[in-house]
Amino acid sequence: MTPLVQLDNVGVRLGGRDVLNDVSLTIRPGEFTGLIGPNGAGKTTLLRVILGLQATATGLVGTHASVGYVPQKLLIEPDMPLRVRDVVSLGIDGHKFGIRLPSRQRRALVNEMLEAVGADGYADARVGELSGGEQQRVMIAHALVSRPKLLLLDEPLASLDLASGHGIVDLLNRLARDEGIAILLSAHDMNPLLPVMDRIIYVAGGRVAVGAPDEVVQSDVLAKLYGHQVDVIRVHGRILVVAGADELVG
Ligand SMILES: Nc1ncnc2c1ncn2[C@@H]1O[C@H](COP(=O)(O)OP(=O)(O)O)[C@@H](O)[C@H]1O
Ligand SMILES: [Mg+2]
Repeated sequence: MTPLVQLDNVGVRLGGRDVLNDVSLTIRPGEFTGLIGPNGAGKTTLLRVILGLQATATGLVGTHASVGYVPQKLLIEPDMPLRVRDVVSLGIDGHKFGIRLPSRQRRALVNEMLEAVGADGYADARVGELSGGEQQRVMIAHALVSRPKLLLLDEPLASLDLASGHGIVDLLNRLARDEGIAILLSAHDMNPLLPVMDRIIYVAGGRVAVGAPDEVVQSDVLAKLYGHQVDVIRVHGRILVVAGADELVG
């Protein structure tokens, strides 16, 4: 199967510092991949490389698919006079549809996307008055309207309560299983993703380890990335990564 994304020995320098070194990875159709690592590890940088927004110092980047992106900071002002359906409709422009779609087709496409993410109940609400979880659904619909084969999401769970986070993970899992859309989602806590992840890209110390969660989340593998002792503790189906003396990082 042709990969959607392939990185070979990629390095990125930012502000005179090597932020990522020798990163190689592959993303295949329909896979749910977690991009896991502590704050400042380079997760957003790696997503920007895949999007072609971040220049690399070394290596090769191949992106062979249409990509949808839900950035980390949604920055939706409470008073912004935009309805949910307007935001999704904005995703149509400048993507696959070079010509302007007739308004009836636009409307049908927007409705279809809102239904797909479970946001049809508040299609006419102002985005600013929605909860964080509802706004995430709207931004996912905005990204999906261009029919990407790969959806990148930067820390979509970070500002959500447990129940909304679970709803978003469920939704993304369904998009991967039923629609075959590859999902690449960054997070500093891997636990909510353990039931759905096919693969992990674990970033730390500027390097990555890639593989099935069971292979990657091992003391010896992570110790190599962090460059010092790391303990991986499994308890009640959750994983704690304890790096160094007593610093909790995952
Ligand atoms: N434009 C920039 N100039 C200099 N350093 C940057 C820039 N953007 C990010 N960095 C640094 O690169 C590292 C990785 O950042 P980032 O990819 O945002 O991490 P993460 O998303 O995992 O929290 C951090 O140390 C950050 O300070
Ligand atoms: Mg980030």
